[in-house]
Amino acid sequence: MKTIISNPVLEPVTIGPIHLKNRFVMAPMTRSRSDDAGVPPAYAADYYAQRANAGLIITEATNISAQARGYPRTPGIWTDEQVSAWKAIVKEVHDKDGKIFLQLWHTGRMSHPDMHAGGALPVAPSAIKPAGQIRVHDGMKDFVVPRALETEEIEQIVEDYRHAAMNAKRAGFDGVEVHSANNYLLEQFIRDSTNQRTDQYGGSLQNRLRFPLEVVRTVVDVWGADRVGIRISPITTAPGDTPLDSQTMETFGTYLEALSDLRLLYVHDIEGVTQMSREETGGVSFTALRKRFKGTYIANNQYTLALATETLSRGDADLFSIGRPFIANPDLVDRLRNGSALAEAPKEYWYGGDATGYSDWPAIR
Ligand SMILES: Cc1cc2nc3c(=O)[nH]c(=O)nc-3n(C[C@H](O)[C@H](O)[C@H](O)COP(=O)(O)O)c2cc1C
Repeated sequence: MKTIISNPVLEPVTIGPIHLKNRFVMAPMTRSRSDDAGVPPAYAADYYAQRANAGLIITEATNISAQARGYPRTPGIWTDEQVSAWKAIVKEVHDKDGKIFLQLWHTGRMSHPDMHAGGALPVAPSAIKPAGQIRVHDGMKDFVVPRALETEEIEQIVEDYRHAAMNAKRAGFDGVEVHSANNYLLEQFIRDSTNQRTDQYGGSLQNRLRFPLEVVRTVVDVWGADRVGIRISPITTAPGDTPLDSQTMETFGTYLEALSDLRLLYVHDIEGVTQMSREETGGVSFTALRKRFKGTYIANNQYTLALATETLSRGDADLFSIGRPFIANPDLVDRLRNGSALAEAPKEYWYGGDATGYSDWPAIR
C-alpha cells in the first residue's frame, strides 16, 4: 500500500444536518436481488454495510408502489414487509457509522405488462412507446405503448410518494433521494419529447414541471427539505435511446431554481450520458446549471479521485458519487485513500443472482 493521501475529497464534511466521513457518495445501483414481493434479501444488509466507508450511500432505486415497478426483482417500500427488510439494512449501515438515503422510484413507461397484475399497461404522461427492449422475468421483450395517465390519477401517485416517504422514515433512513433521472416517470413529465399532454401537467414548461414539483413538495412535507435530495440527468439517453428535451438548459435551469427555492438538501447530477459519455453535453453547461441551485451539488458519471480532486478545487461540485467501482470494491474509499488497486466486477453480476458477485467481494485488509 502507498502512503495515505491527504486530500479534501477524503476529509469529513457536513451537508445540512448530516455529517459525512468524506465527499464520496455511493451512487444508486439496481442490483435485482429482491424477491417477487419487492423485499430485499437479508444479505443486502451485508452489501450496504460493507460500503459504509462512503460518506453517503444512496440505495438502489426503490419502487414507491406496485404500479411503479419496471424491472424484475427490484425492491419496494410500500409494504410493511419491505419496510422491515430495509430497517435491518439501515441498522447495519448505521452500526458501521454510515449514512444512507433511499432512492424513491416510479419507472412510468420504462416497464412492461409482464410486471403488472393482470398484464396492465405501464403508465406515462403520454402514450409514447420507448425505443428498444426491456428486461422482464424471462428475458428481453419489446417495450409497449404505455397508457397515458388520466389527470385525476396523478394525485394518487403523489400520495404513493407520500406513503413511500413515510415508510422510508419508519425504516430509519437518514433521508431520501427523489429519482428524477434516467427517463423514469418524473423525467418523462419534464421532457417535451415524452410529455405531450394538454392538461395542466403538459405543454408549457411550468406545466411539465408541475408533477415532479408536487412530488418533491410532498416528500419534503414528510421529511423536511434538509433531508431530501433529487437526482437529475439532463442529457442522458439512458436507459434506452430516449429523445431529449428541446430546451434542455432552460428546462433544467428552471427546475433547479424551483428546487433551490424549496431549499432541497442536494441535487445529484449525472453529467453526460449515464454510464457512458461525459464528453457528450447536448449543449448543456453543467457548471452553469449548477449555479441555478444553492444547495449541495453531487456530481456523477465516471468520477475518479483525480477528477473529483480537480473538480472540488475549482469549486464545481461538493460531493462526488461513484457507481460501478463500488460493485467489486466494498472498501472503495479506503482503496482510493491508500492508492490500492481496484477490482472489476464482471457485468454478469450486475443484475440478478444472489450473494455471489454482490456481498462477497473482499475488502483489502
Ligand atoms: C448496475 C447499475 C445499476 C444502476 N442503477 C441505478 C439506479 O437504481 N438508480 C439510478 O439513479 N442510477 C442507477 N445507475 C446509474 C449509476 O447510479 C451511475 O449514474 C452510473 O453508473 C455512472 O456512474 P459511475 O461512472 O460512477 O458508474 C446504475 C448503474 C449501474 C452500473
